[in-house]
This record gives sequence, structure tokens and C-alpha cells, in this order.
Amino acid sequence: MLGKKLTQRLRVGIVGCGAIGEGLALFIDSQLSDKINLCALADKDQQRAVKLQRKLRSVLSVVEVEELIKKVDLVVETASIEAARFILERALLYKKDMLILSAGALIENFPLLAQAEKAKINIYVPSGAISGIDGLGALSLGSIRKVSLITSKPPRGLIGADYLKRKKINLTNLKKEKVVFKGSVKEAVRYFPKNVNVAAILVLASSSQNVEVCIKANPNLKRNTHCIIVEAKEAKLSVTVENTPSKLNPRTSSLAILSVQYFFRKMFSNFKVGS
Ligand SMILES: NC(=O)c1ccc[n+]([C@@H]2O[C@H](COP(=O)([O-])OP(=O)(O)OC[C@H]3O[C@@H](n4cnc5c(N)ncnc54)[C@H](O)[C@@H]3O)[C@@H](O)[C@H]2O)c1
Repeated sequence: MLGKKLTQRLRVGIVGCGAIGEGLALFIDSQLSDKINLCALADKDQQRAVKLQRKLRSVLSVVEVEELIKKVDLVVETASIEAARFILERALLYKKDMLILSAGALIENFPLLAQAEKAKINIYVPSGAISGIDGLGALSLGSIRKVSLITSKPPRGLIGADYLKRKKINLTNLKKEKVVFKGSVKEAVRYFPKNVNVAAILVLASSSQNVEVCIKANPNLKRNTHCIIVEAKEAKLSVTVENTPSKLNPRTSSLAILSVQYFFRKMFSNFKVGS
């Protein structure tokens, strides 16, 4: 779809009407409605979709996820890993392009990615809550030796994760920084599904499973911080992103919302900066 001249408005549907879904819907509605026909919303909590529908000028319907997939050219997932798994499968069936925010779902399912390629279905993954994906992507054509991600969060951003319960890690009243997890991306996705989209994006951008993940709880932090280190023959890259939580959902960074909005802005711009 990117790069192709679209002769009519692109039909887009959003699954998941929380912080990112709402931020994107409002952006399309106010800035891109001449290019995009935002025609459907879906949410497992239908009231959230109806609430968002009322804030928009676009005339659109609130439907079940499967119906939404059938109606649109591009399905946008801003919901959960579980929703992304369902969308991946059904969008393939109905031959629809998709944009996935819950990138962890893609890591579990490389065969589906191969099927999509065969069927010429586009899957877009915005850079979300991190930066440096352009450099990492470029280096994937060179020789990457190692990719590491250190994610540090205030304890409240991690409390409730199954892994912590299983390992009996208690973060209440934590006084200093504590490493809660070190391991592979696959394990991180399994144990921290709400916290590891960033790690998944690194795997997808670098085309390497060899991404080391370290998750830390730090009671002195106000912002979620991601430190990405890429060691390659051609360059060493260190990127630190300190994210401000979004107003609608403190677990989601404002940058993730802007990144999806920017993805659509770039799609329809004739002047594209950055690889
Ligand atoms: N790629 C990134 O960098 C990045 C950054 C932030 C968030 N995320 C991911 O994006 C997704 C959306 O984030 P958010 O902050 O907007 O979340 P949110 O909790 O604010 O909103 C999610 C919405 O999706 C709905 N939903 C959940 N599961 C669903 C399902 N199976 N079917 C239909 N609707 C469903 C919920 O009811 C809710 O309204 C999450 O999975 C989150 O982990 C990715």
C-alpha cells in the first residue's frame, strides 16, 4: 500500500478504542479524512467504541472484530496480544492489510508472517514506544552481533505480571532498583505480554532472535525508560528513550500514540524523511 497511488480513500478500521486507538481515530478524523475513510471501530468493551464514535465527525459503525476485518482495506490493531493473534489469522483469511501495535503476537507466529508475504498482504509495525528502528533496520542488512534492551519501569508498571507472582517477586515498597527478568524475547513475551512490545519490535526490525532482554523495576523512576544497544560491524548504536505516560492510559507512552499518527501522516506524504 505504501508507495502505491491510492485512487480512492483507504478504508480503515480500528480494533481497540483505548489510548492508542482513540489517539489515532481523532488524528485521522481531524487531519486525514480526505485520504482515509475511517469506517469502523471495534472493542471487546462495546461501550468504549460507542464513546469514541460519538467524539468523531466521521460516520462510522461499531461492529464485531470479524465484521470490521471484512469491511476495510487496512485493519489497525490497538487492543491486545490476544486481539492481534485473532486479527493476524482472520486478516490473512480475508486478505486484508494490517497494522499491529501488540507486536509480541508476531514473534510467536513467524509462519503466519511467511504466509502473509506469499499472499502479498502487508503487515505494518510502527516503531511505537522506541526510537532507532531506522538505524537498526539499516544495520540488519550489515552484520549485527548483538541487540540488547534494558527496560526500566516504576514498580506500578510491572505489578500484576504473572511472572512476578510465579517467582514470588514482591515490588511493593521497593526501595532501590531491582532486576526482575533477564532472558530471551520469546520468554519475555510469554511472561510480560503487556510490557514487551518494544522487545518484539527489535526482533522484527533486526531480523534476529538474538535479542537479550532485561527488565528492571525502579522506584525512583517517573518514566518508562528503554535503553537499546546494537553492536554491529558497521556501527554501534545506543538509544535511550524516556517516555512520558499518556493521559488516557499511564501504562502507554505518548510516543507510541504519536508514532502511529506519524505512520499515517508519512503514508500519505509525498516527502518522506528517514528510512
Ligand atoms: N508497540 C508499542 O510500542 C506499544 C506501545 C504501547 C502499547 N502497545 C500495545 O498496544 C495495545 C493498545 O494499547 P493501549 O494503550 O491503547 O491500550 P488500552 O488498554 O488503553 O486500550 C485497549 C483497548 O482494546 C480493547 N481490547 C482489548 N482486547 C481486545 C480484544 N481481544 N478485542 C477487542 N478489543 C480489545 C480494550 O477493551 C481497550 O478498550 C496494547 O496491546 C499495548 O500493549 C504497544
